[in-house]
Amino acid sequence: MSRVNSSASEVLDPILERYSRNPNHLMQILRETQERLDFIPDWAVDYLAEVLVLPHAQIQSVIGFYAFFFGSPRGKYRILFSDNVTDRMQGNTALLSRMLSRFSLAQGQVAGDGLLSIDTTSCTGMCDQGPALLVNNYPVTRLTSQRIDQICELIKKQTPLTQWPAELFLVEDNIRRKDVLLSTEMTNGEALKRAIELGPQGMLAEMKASNFRGRGGAGFTTGVKWEACRNTAEKTRYLVCNADEGEPGTFKDRVLLASFAERVFEGMTIAGYVIGAAKGLIYLRAEYRYMLEQLEAALEARRKAKLLGQNILGQQGFDFDIEIHMGAGAYVCGEETALIESLEGKPGRPRIRPPFPVTHGYLGKPTVVNNVETLAKVTLIAQNGGAWYRGLGTRLSTGTKLLSISGDCDRPGIYEYSFGVRIAQILEDCGARNAMAVQVGGAAGTCLARHEFGRKIAFEDVSTSGALMVFGNHRDMFEVARNFAHFFEHESCGFCTPCRVGTTMMCNILDKIANGNGTAYEMNELSRLHQLLSTASHCGLGQSAGRPVNDTLQKFRPSYDRRLAQKDFEPAFDLDAALAEAREITARDDVDAHLGTEA
Ligand SMILES: Cc1cc2nc3c(=O)[nH]c(=O)nc-3n(C[C@H](O)[C@H](O)[C@H](O)COP(=O)(O)O)c2cc1C
Ligand code: SF4
Repeated sequence: MSRVNSSASEVLDPILERYSRNPNHLMQILRETQERLDFIPDWAVDYLAEVLVLPHAQIQSVIGFYAFFFGSPRGKYRILFSDNVTDRMQGNTALLSRMLSRFSLAQGQVAGDGLLSIDTTSCTGMCDQGPALLVNNYPVTRLTSQRIDQICELIKKQTPLTQWPAELFLVEDNIRRKDVLLSTEMTNGEALKRAIELGPQGMLAEMKASNFRGRGGAGFTTGVKWEACRNTAEKTRYLVCNADEGEPGTFKDRVLLASFAERVFEGMTIAGYVIGAAKGLIYLRAEYRYMLEQLEAALEARRKAKLLGQNILGQQGFDFDIEIHMGAGAYVCGEETALIESLEGKPGRPRIRPPFPVTHGYLGKPTVVNNVETLAKVTLIAQNGGAWYRGLGTRLSTGTKLLSISGDCDRPGIYEYSFGVRIAQILEDCGARNAMAVQVGGAAGTCLARHEFGRKIAFEDVSTSGALMVFGNHRDMFEVARNFAHFFEHESCGFCTPCRVGTTMMCNILDKIANGNGTAYEMNELSRLHQLLSTASHCGLGQSAGRPVNDTLQKFRPSYDRRLAQKDFEPAFDLDAALAEAREITARDDVDAHLGTEA
């Protein structure tokens, strides 16, 4: 007998129709269901399970995995304060308390009348204009006490979001420095025409000649990746644009999608042409939901201009189109195999590799995953050639890099530099006086102290996916590391034990030290855990989760030491004492029943 509610079909059928009742679109179906109903009730799960022919538990596991899906009511207004370390530095904690007290609510609690819930979330990618929050996934930036009071009034009056003042939802680009990507004009279709003139092999040759390396973090040579995919025997191939941008402190892809989307779409189309893919998918992080309609409209305009669809620019057999898939609040989904799982409508757990996506990716087919910036820059190489591009930057890191700069500086925002620029130069340009440290590459990156500011941004020196957070000499680097550690603990997908347990243990120790109960023993434990995480974790998240703690321990040790209750080696947990009950039960109290005693 059907368990479904009679109105379920009325609500859900239009959504299901839009996605052709395809279970691979489960994420999008759940997102739209939640946008319609404010949460995903059991009766909706029952109906979706029946129509999509999916186990009930599978749908529940997807809802449970993603932070932005709710299986129980979370309030008509769902407020999530961005909780990156830069939001903290800009005072988000006091603003959160102010809002909670205005509604007499506890963090995470849903108001009795179901009006709202208030909680925190990981970095929302607005670090250049924080502190920020999301209301029903729409960002409000530059929060002040006045803004918080204004939002509280709007909520109390139950004003629909569409009637909130537009300035609340203003997101600025804050482009501060332009180089070849941000300053070169492009007429839509121009780079694509050039690629068609070159042909797929010719364009691939230009990519290889450019020695261009992907901008998503790992720095893999893009031409080599494309060639591996193109050379597969399987003819159905996919191109994926990774717009998950979850790394704390990173927001350059946000700006590219907001103001340079044509370059991204055109780069995707060129990539599709070279690798022989007919479909491109953009995986857009949930925090950038506010851009969805604008991006969809731009795609539609490209279809009309014959820059997408069938026989693109009159080229027989050149078919390529782009779909946008929204994420739902999971940093790990930026990892390319987790992203592919998510695209397939599953929890975003990283796959075991090999096989690699270039041979077995989306739906088991050859797939290239590239970062937003990578794809935008492909258009420059098509326009100007690989040799020209290779002339920029350094020998091993050709071209330019977009940096998202935030923290203690006068001019946070987007800076485009040729690779090889020194940290000191960047700090001067962004108005960072008295910088004590910079965190390059986000929470997973590298913490540099003042004596290292002569180092260069380049794959061969300090590599980065694009974040650069500045910390002035009044900051507490222990608290910076603690914020990152909690981020990793929260974002661990739980698939493998070293990361699941290791990130939690690391947070427990840091909290213990913060509370003034730490000893030298805990400091040793932190180093041991970093070692364990970096060597035994399954994916890049766990492998880098201990880095901020390890870096700050080495470079800012006094910020830890001054919190220690005792600096001598002193086990905080007395295992021998804890075994007393076991000795009593077994009626043993001999030397061998004790730990650490000589026989
Ligand atoms: C935990 C984790 C998160 C990641 N997040 C992103 C991301 O948000 N955007 C991105 O492009 N790459 C991210 N990556 C790297 C991707 O796995 C992949 O290497 C990248 O998308 C490839 O693009 P590229 O070749 O253009 O650099 C992440 C990797 C890990 C381990
Ligand atoms: S390292 Fe962490 S995030 Fe990666 S698979 Fe293991 S548990 Fe998941």
